Amino acid sequence: MLSLQSRHTFALPVMARDIIEIEKAEQLTQIDFNVPFMILGEGSNTVFLNDYSGLVISMKNKGIEKKVDNEFIYLNVSAGENWHELVCSTLADNILGLENLALIPGSVGAAPVQNIGAYGVEVRQFIEYVTGYDINQKRFYTLTNEECEFAYRESIFKDELNKKFIITEVGFKFNKLWLPELSYGPLKQVSLTGNNAEDAKSIFEQVVSIRQEKLPDPNKIPNAGSFFKNPIIKETQLIDLKKAYPDIPNYPVGLNADNVNEFKLAAGWLIDKAQLKGFRVEGIEVNPLQALVLLNHGNSTGDDITKMILTIQKTIREKFSVELEHEVRIINTNGECKVGLDNISIEGQS
Ligand code: FAD
Ligand code: EPU
Repeated sequence: MLSLQSRHTFALPVMARDIIEIEKAEQLTQIDFNVPFMILGEGSNTVFLNDYSGLVISMKNKGIEKKVDNEFIYLNVSAGENWHELVCSTLADNILGLENLALIPGSVGAAPVQNIGAYGVEVRQFIEYVTGYDINQKRFYTLTNEECEFAYRESIFKDELNKKFIITEVGFKFNKLWLPELSYGPLKQVSLTGNNAEDAKSIFEQVVSIRQEKLPDPNKIPNAGSFFKNPIIKETQLIDLKKAYPDIPNYPVGLNADNVNEFKLAAGWLIDKAQLKGFRVEGIEVNPLQALVLLNHGNSTGDDITKMILTIQKTIREKFSVELEHEVRIINTNGECKVGLDNISIEGQS
């Protein structure tokens, strides 16, 4: 058994039966996928509840290739590169666009999986293609941006291709005509000079400063970022909620497949309003500074985390009639599971 504690930012002291590090994509063709396995980047969106009985495939392949034409700059980046280092290196090379996504922990290969986003920008805006290894077909192939089916914290890699496709490279495309994205409230304070490189750097610095103020550094206090997704509700439900809570933060999402107008709520606000800030189950605490983040102060078990998730979900359902779904990927002894009030589903079991 090998320790997983330093391989996931929630840092529970759990073990894996085996871990293999992939430094060259071709190594994937040699793996026996008939044993239980899971894919891991830097573990900043993965919480292991208990010892994992399978093989952890840890993506560590490195490399960045650049091409330029008249209008665009193209980067082909290996999955094992660190996301924030990529953001810094692009800005240093005068490639502008990723500044709003600064300081998001994790690997480049995981960025398309949940379509990472922050401060008015999502990574899908810069992804041209995603290349990876198809486990069943035993071959590498490439998906276009459209084929990735990106949505808020969603993509085909979390859905249809979950556990079927291992991302090995991500292709990015940057328009040389850069436009700042300042729609997120606190970024409105950034004063622009008209010099694009300087302005992108100012946005980068402001994003870093907001994040350092609001979000706990996992190296200091183990955490996994936002624990829950911001829930999306129908307009009729928002109208009802506004009667009781006129100041409820909400963001228009647009029409759903049934032509119904939808809105995103702030899960952190709901948890805060339910007075759960500082609530503890053993060493697991609802962050007193940002309620969407759970902190691991140590001396806790996977059962404590499950209890915390269910308590938050139950409280929010009872108070607001809103369902919260965890954003983090939860791994139990036998594989990934979803923790919810109506079921705790475990991969491979019904
Ligand atoms: P992991 O946790 O290792 O993996 C995440 C999922 O992707 C797993 O299901 C894994 O199986 C799968 N996966 C990983 N690599 C591959 C691959 N190569 N091929 C196929 N599947 C793969 N997220 C945001 O969107 N916005 C934020 O602002 C943000 N802020 C955060 C702040 C903090 C303090 C923390 C701890 C997390 C934050 N996150 C945020 C979440 C996290 O940073 C992202 O989800 C990140 O992309 C995870 O990268 P990782 O390499 O650590 O992924
Ligand atoms: N709020 C409260 N109390 C809290 C927390 C938030 O009232 O304890 C309110 C805020 O005042 C604000 C609203 O809720 O009105 C939204 O809060 P915030 O701007 O902090 O963002 P968030 O919705 O909590 C999301 C992402 C973050 C991302 C930020 C910035 C999700 C699940 N989370 O957080 O992503 O960095 O916006 O864009 O979408 C992550 O995914 O791990 C993550 C950190």
